[in-house]
Amino acid sequence: MVNIDKYITLKDDVSALIICNKENLNESLSMFCSKQQADYVRQMYEQHKKDFFDFCLTDRYVLVAIVKEDELPYKTKELYRRLGGKVLRFCDNNFIKDLQVASLTVKDNILGFTEGMLNCSYIFDYYKTDPERMIHPFDNLHIVHNDVEPKDLDELRIICEATEKARDLVNEPVTVINAETLAHNFASMAQEAGINIEIWDKQKIEKEKMGGILAVNRGSVDNPTFTIMEYKPEKHNNSKPIVLVGKGITYDTGGLNIKPGDYMNDMKSDMAGAATMGCALYAIAMLKLPVHVIALLPATDNRPNHNAYCSGDIINMYDGTNVEVVNTDAEGRMILADALAYAKKYNPSLVIDMATLTGAASRAIGPFGIVAMQKDAENFMEVMKTCGKKVYERIAEFPFWDEYDKLIVSDIADIKNSGEKYAGMITAGKFLAYFTSYPYIHLDIAGVAMNEHDTDYAGTGATATGLRLIVDFLRTYYK
Ligand code: BES
Ligand code: MN
Ligand code: ZN
Repeated sequence: MVNIDKYITLKDDVSALIICNKENLNESLSMFCSKQQADYVRQMYEQHKKDFFDFCLTDRYVLVAIVKEDELPYKTKELYRRLGGKVLRFCDNNFIKDLQVASLTVKDNILGFTEGMLNCSYIFDYYKTDPERMIHPFDNLHIVHNDVEPKDLDELRIICEATEKARDLVNEPVTVINAETLAHNFASMAQEAGINIEIWDKQKIEKEKMGGILAVNRGSVDNPTFTIMEYKPEKHNNSKPIVLVGKGITYDTGGLNIKPGDYMNDMKSDMAGAATMGCALYAIAMLKLPVHVIALLPATDNRPNHNAYCSGDIINMYDGTNVEVVNTDAEGRMILADALAYAKKYNPSLVIDMATLTGAASRAIGPFGIVAMQKDAENFMEVMKTCGKKVYERIAEFPFWDEYDKLIVSDIADIKNSGEKYAGMITAGKFLAYFTSYPYIHLDIAGVAMNEHDTDYAGTGATATGLRLIVDFLRTYYK
């Protein structure tokens, strides 16, 4: 993790980045740059719209970036995050280990820049044996900005560390992160953050008759787990708890409806919902937010071996519902349903689940946002949409019309685990909503959990998208 701290003024023996916008260009340049640099920047910007400069001095770099700020603050902040990613890459490529950053823009933008830089500095390199490919040069970031306080940087660090943990969990293959080791990771985080944790093993899950989790686990040699984490600070602003539920499929082969071709690639990431929710709770506790939150994290892999569950099976779920299995690849909803039904016992004010649930969600809006649905949670959803823009983990709300309910009615049981050829993300949401009796938000992160291309500040592989959204939502709603 990159170190971040605050400098009162720029030092002249450390590489520096000056971030300007159109309005403060002259003032920034005369404040932070030499006369020669300032003249050059002004000229190149006016003549060629050049907006990024790297002056290589004898002992350090001076970088200048000019941001074209948007009218909408949330869009501008995202531009700053992306600049953070770009600068981090520049530093890596040029062996810059220390960088001080000065800017006259508003504090929130500088925090965005810092977040982008920290997020981009993440790499998953535990398995690279070539030392040259392992070394990550960047070490220290120093912020020169009047309004940025050490507390802001501490909070940012907590969130970025939680994000790194989630990304590691998702990037690790199932040989390392199975249901049990996932739960053990949650346990160490809980211990560090002062969160209560209970890990149910297979025996306990059997005793509780969580039929959905057990059905999916039948093809596996690894045991399932059901993890319950509770963070309840003395001072909390919600009288009834918030429950976070996450899909913890540690590997999704599809089961007997085995995934063809390269559809199975990346299915180690099918526990991204659980990892992200678990790590979000960790961040919330480390930030000491005044909110009572519980996380329910069911976990197993989905495999076709042994006594694997089959199409045609009728599964008796935790709440007594009989589910007809029509596709063993619709396994996420089977394990989530038990957790959602279990959540009723907390009399929650709101339950949010997060899951890499459907290819349909990913196809519908691509990697640019989270597909969401809600039941009796309109107000919560409005706040969440605003937060989604702020952290740029945007939400697209899909309809939850009554007509979709009919699509999952089973001829021989209560409901079936898949609907028609269309609206797969909605019928999946409807299946989950069947097990709820409280204000409910469903987040389908199938399109955003993994990044294919090394763009902006995310890098390739796991993104932990949704973590900053949940933290910001709870922080905003229960201020
Ligand atoms: N984990 C997958 C969904 C997924 C696909 C996530 C691609 C990320 C990338 C899920 O378990 C699944 O297989 N869903 C099926 C449901 C269908 C069988 C009703 C799907 O979307 O095809
Ligand atoms: Mn599946
Ligand atoms: Zn899955």
